[in-house]
Amino acid sequence: MIQGTGKVISNRKIKPGYCLMAVKCQPIAKKAKPGQFLTIRCGDTDTPLLRRPFGFHRINASGFEILYEIKGKGTRFLSGLKPGGMIDLLGPLGNGFTVPKGRKNFIILAGGIGVAPLASLADALAKIKSGKTYAILGARSRKNLLCVEHFGNIGIETIVATDDGSCGEKCFATDILNSFLSVKKDFRPVIFACGPRGMLKAAGRIAEKRGLECYVSLEENIACGVGACLGCAIKTGSGYKLVCKDGPVFNAKEVIW
Ligand SMILES: Cc1cc2nc3c(=O)[nH]c(=O)nc-3n(C[C@H](O)[C@H](O)[C@H](O)COP(=O)(O)OP(=O)(O)OC[C@H]3O[C@@H](n4cnc5c(N)ncnc54)[C@H](O)[C@@H]3O)c2cc1C
Ligand code: FES
Repeated sequence: MIQGTGKVISNRKIKPGYCLMAVKCQPIAKKAKPGQFLTIRCGDTDTPLLRRPFGFHRINASGFEILYEIKGKGTRFLSGLKPGGMIDLLGPLGNGFTVPKGRKNFIILAGGIGVAPLASLADALAKIKSGKTYAILGARSRKNLLCVEHFGNIGIETIVATDDGSCGEKCFATDILNSFLSVKKDFRPVIFACGPRGMLKAAGRIAEKRGLECYVSLEENIACGVGACLGCAIKTGSGYKLVCKDGPVFNAKEVIW
């Protein structure tokens, strides 16, 4: 884990309420893995006091991108940063996605802004040429749908679902997952998911029913980010675990929802 300074390379609104920020910080980029996260000091003063956690959207040799939804004080501050600005970073933190050895078929399941950390995973999975990766991207509406183009550009077949039917099928992403697995019985993918807790719980159930592995990236309020304050504990089959240190990625069957 490194505490360092990053330089904002670009920071632009990609849709109302959503921004994409490219940051140069080679020491953190060199160590970062898909599914890990970093925390950012989101202010020039002591407020907000707590750093805010973000996944690595895409990772390259000299830096990374953060895809974020503007929610409150911290993310509003981030959205105002200009190219050339410097930010205080801590990362990489936690344990990211591990691709089980020998597996080559995958499904990426994302709900809303949950797609943010899955793009770097998709970049890695797209390089495994012997199998196939599908992405199922869900959102409330077309306005909240992100990254469809990115997944297409790296050759990942993508299925879209929206709650209001404004893009793709009018259903939940987990409905698509269920029907997809019913049709493609021999596909037997590993599922990687990030999104609202209800979606992750449903994905875990679907996977368990079918005897598939499913890894979920969980969100909890993060304070210290390094396992010291115990503020991000969740219940698992083997006792309490910390989202910031033991996660944020967990095997879905371990989590007590
Ligand atoms: C491991 C992890 C990775 C994340 N990755 C991303 C990402 O890639 N892109 C993205 O847009 N968002 C991500 N988030 C959520 C993001 O951290 C929150 O949206 C952000 O902290 C909100 O800060 P704020 O000051 O703008 O909003 P606030 O005004 O503080 O709060 C608005 C909402 O954000 C939640 N929130 C506030 N502080 C935290 C915190 N420290 N940790 C978690 N949730 C918080 C609150 O419960 C509330 O619902 C991630 C969260 C975690 C735990
Ligand atoms: S945020 Fe402090 S232990 Fe996880």
